[in-house]
Amino acid sequence: MTKFEGRNYCVVTYGCQMNVHESEKIRGVLTSLGMLETDNVNKAMVIVFNTCCVREGAEDRAYNNLIALQNIKKENPDTIIVVCGCMTQQKNGKYNIFERLPFVDIVIGTYNINELGDYLLRYAKKKQRIIEILDKPRGDMDVENAVRDDKINAYVNIIYGCNKFCTYCIVPYVRGREQSRKPQDIYKEVKDLVQNQGYKYITLLGQNVNSYGKDLDEKITFSQLLTSLCRIEGDFKIKFMTSHPMDLGDDLIKVMKDEPKVAKTLHLPVQSGSNAMLKQMNRHYDIKHYMRIIKRCKRLIPNISLSTDIIVGFPGETEKDFNQTIKLLKRVKYDQIFAFMYSKRSGTPAATFENQVPEAEKKIRVNKLLRLQKIIQQEKNKKYFKRTYNCLIKQQNGVAIGITDGGKEIYIPGYKYYNQNYFANVRVEGIRNHKLSGVIDE
Ligand code: 5AD
Ligand code: SF4
Repeated sequence: MTKFEGRNYCVVTYGCQMNVHESEKIRGVLTSLGMLETDNVNKAMVIVFNTCCVREGAEDRAYNNLIALQNIKKENPDTIIVVCGCMTQQKNGKYNIFERLPFVDIVIGTYNINELGDYLLRYAKKKQRIIEILDKPRGDMDVENAVRDDKINAYVNIIYGCNKFCTYCIVPYVRGREQSRKPQDIYKEVKDLVQNQGYKYITLLGQNVNSYGKDLDEKITFSQLLTSLCRIEGDFKIKFMTSHPMDLGDDLIKVMKDEPKVAKTLHLPVQSGSNAMLKQMNRHYDIKHYMRIIKRCKRLIPNISLSTDIIVGFPGETEKDFNQTIKLLKRVKYDQIFAFMYSKRSGTPAATFENQVPEAEKKIRVNKLLRLQKIIQQEKNKKYFKRTYNCLIKQQNGVAIGITDGGKEIYIPGYKYYNQNYFANVRVEGIRNHKLSGVIDE
């Protein structure tokens, strides 16, 4: 019996889906030590902060909340504070946590969370602070038995790292080069999640899923992996994120169209509507290429739901460049956008570019985009009328609802669902106050 058995832990997560899933793995590691979860940091013997550094805001938030833990540690010196995730892996980050926060006991990077159990046992024995940031993984970084948050959708890593080096992005510096997981391991994990744990959605994760397999000895592409996962028996669907427009080929669009188990939704970050900006960002595509993919998707998969990431105020972005992004939004009519103000990341090329855009201007631009997107989304609601969507049927406040692959809710008044969590076709019959209602379409 270890000193951790029966004691509480708390994991605090910042950042993207990748981090959310990594926290699920951390919970798996702590559970295997016999620990129990709490969401109250005051009750926890082990507190883990899983950090993000993609933008300055995320970093500041994590740092300020960490400082607040100082008091907990004063009151209860037995508390063990662990910091991991992207922030710790930066070479010249804004904050050096290990040096600046002496009450933090263990600092590890993005490649060794699977070893957290060993670090904790070592710390409990020697009571010496530990810092261990690796430059690359020691082997495979898999953790058995991640403890997942969501009971309907399960995240599954397929590729770690990124080789793209977009000039604004810190990810390749803190997550290293692309490393694909073995297809057999992914297959086994997905099969277990679907057939033994009842998951309805599997979301395959990677910074650039379209690069999947390029680093493996075995010849396999992302669309081949996807096809093989569709052969797993069961009532489930697969989503994936994130795709890179440069690497997304027609083969993938075909698999999305042909395979009923592939959800009809695509997150395809464009970042900017201006070719000049895309070049400066080192994105390796232009708007013509991007639009070709979008048009093809819309033509072959009419019900597809599209989303994107956009950065406003990248160094040198003029009013004219920004207007190109506005124009793109009006052309594509996304179902959802994630718009970010450019944030300078030290160590990335764009941090040293001239013509940085003032914060106030970035704010104006981001708000303009969000206002426009709201109008587009409201307008787009009309498109749903009389169309049929394959939805996950759930119950909410006593009423059955269908959730489309893109996450849109369709109320199904009067319908008695017989079991939670199954897929069925729903035809939209009404739209009121931007709310959709419909009937089951057998
Ligand atoms: N500033 C603002 N947004 C950024 N992103 C990545 N790096 C930065 C940065 N330095 C955005 C991109 C990416 C998303 C995950 O975060 O839009 O697609
Ligand atoms: Fe960052 Fe670009 Fe890689 Fe995405 S593709 S993680 S934006 S470097």
